[in-house]
Amino acid sequence: MGDVSNPSLSPLPSADRPDVTTRLRDALLGASFTADGLLELLGAPAYAALSRSETVPALRATRGDTPLEVLVRLFLLQQPVPHARVTDVLPVDACLETGWLVRADDEVAATVDVRPYGGPGGEDWFIVSDLGCAVGGAGGIGNHAEGVVLGVGGASTTLAGLTVRTPVSAALDLGTGSGIQALHAAAHATRVTATDVNPRALHITALTLALSGAPAADLREGSLYEPVAEDDAYDLIVSNPPFVISPGARLTYRDGGMGGDDLCRRLVQETGERLNPGGFAHFLANWQHVEGEEWTDRLRSWVPRGCDAWIVQREVQDVTQYAELWLRDAGDHRGDPAEYQARYDAWLDEFEARKVRAVGFGWITLRRTGAAEPSVVAEEWPHPVEQPLGETVRAHFDRVDYLRAHDDAALLEAHFTLAGEVVQEQVGLPGAEDPEHVVLRQNRGMRRATRVDTVGAGFAGVCDGTMSAGRILDAIAQLVGEDPVALRDRTPAQIRLLVEQGFLEPA
Ligand SMILES: C[S@@+](CC[C@H](N)C(=O)[O-])C[C@H]1O[C@@H](n2cnc3c(N)ncnc32)[C@H](O)[C@@H]1O
Repeated sequence: MGDVSNPSLSPLPSADRPDVTTRLRDALLGASFTADGLLELLGAPAYAALSRSETVPALRATRGDTPLEVLVRLFLLQQPVPHARVTDVLPVDACLETGWLVRADDEVAATVDVRPYGGPGGEDWFIVSDLGCAVGGAGGIGNHAEGVVLGVGGASTTLAGLTVRTPVSAALDLGTGSGIQALHAAAHATRVTATDVNPRALHITALTLALSGAPAADLREGSLYEPVAEDDAYDLIVSNPPFVISPGARLTYRDGGMGGDDLCRRLVQETGERLNPGGFAHFLANWQHVEGEEWTDRLRSWVPRGCDAWIVQREVQDVTQYAELWLRDAGDHRGDPAEYQARYDAWLDEFEARKVRAVGFGWITLRRTGAAEPSVVAEEWPHPVEQPLGETVRAHFDRVDYLRAHDDAALLEAHFTLAGEVVQEQVGLPGAEDPEHVVLRQNRGMRRATRVDTVGAGFAGVCDGTMSAGRILDAIAQLVGEDPVALRDRTPAQIRLLVEQGFLEPA
């Protein structure tokens, strides 16, 4: 690890004193300084406000002197606390000696933000980050010093939720920051490697893992895949990279510092060789919508050979919305108006020069298959989904395998069941006898909706795994007086789509 000190940031606690970290962890757990404990103490509105960087409700809720209130003021609200008050809550001398706390007169203060974080299996984890940086966004970051390390934001939890969580041997978290993705990976990977260009992030990741009681990760400093050996390969790669497309690298945690969307492109392109067969890679990314080019073509061209890909565009912002979003994220809107204007201008100059009209936000998942005909699905789905989606993502790629192995004749021989919690909606004018169209809607996972014709709806309704698809179609043909051969001919495309989108499952 390089030099992690920065004069405008607090010196970090020692990462080489597991004895003290364990005592600190025990003390935090002993005082119910956990996600559940916080929720109970603060109540849902103050708890939610904290995740929006608003501290006033939590300050009001922690005026008392219980150990939990003291810890919340110290580690979450950055309030100094009387030394005498913490001696029966924490191993204070050991925390002062190892740099978790600093002393000023009769008070002690935390050097880092420590945030309780509930793992998916009910684990009591802790995320360490720089002071005032537990959450980002909307000008919520309390420090813009070079190398500042943020805690958990919406993007972090989105990526953690998307990730396929099957047990694996080797996982890589690229751009680890606070270590949240490495922490999740440690729960189902034998070995975790975490990289970052920022040595301070690697140090903080070591603290997050140790304080959460997770095994240490192999920490490597450097850009993209540089810090891992050329022949290293992983079963799982995750990255919430610095995806912001900006005119120059200002903030390491978000600005990749390469032109346009080059950082995301390189990350995706260079992943093929790094994945073991069957391995998954999950990325959050931003991409340019360039004049005269389909965004889907741009993204497809990034997918490395030998990989299936599922690309979901969740949102598109025009260039003005995009520039404003990140100017606000950095708090620039609260600074000097002339400087704000100049920065805004620079952003638009950059987009104009690159013929960028808008920016897409989304998820990219790769799976290495080596298939001769890779499946690359690039789609827009801006609607709410049900997180965690890891199982849904895994099932998508299973269905891709299934469809690749089944031609239309084989599909007609196959048996299907309707996925759980699918409902049918009929759309049309009030009072009309026949619906204009029928929509099948999932209430789980991607919560997709798709239009089907009456044959598609009838077919889906009958799918309980007992009859083959062909037999069901023959019965429908008889019912509606249609030629069964013609129906068998035209329906497989619709069945394929329903399987691809997860409405029908191979029985
Ligand atoms: C948006 S933060 C993500 C942090 C964390 N993984 C999460 O999910 O919350 C991006 C991280 O990537 C790091 N980073 C920036 N440029 C990088 C590069 N070229 N290669 C690797 N990491 C980089 C930053 O220092 C930062 O820690």
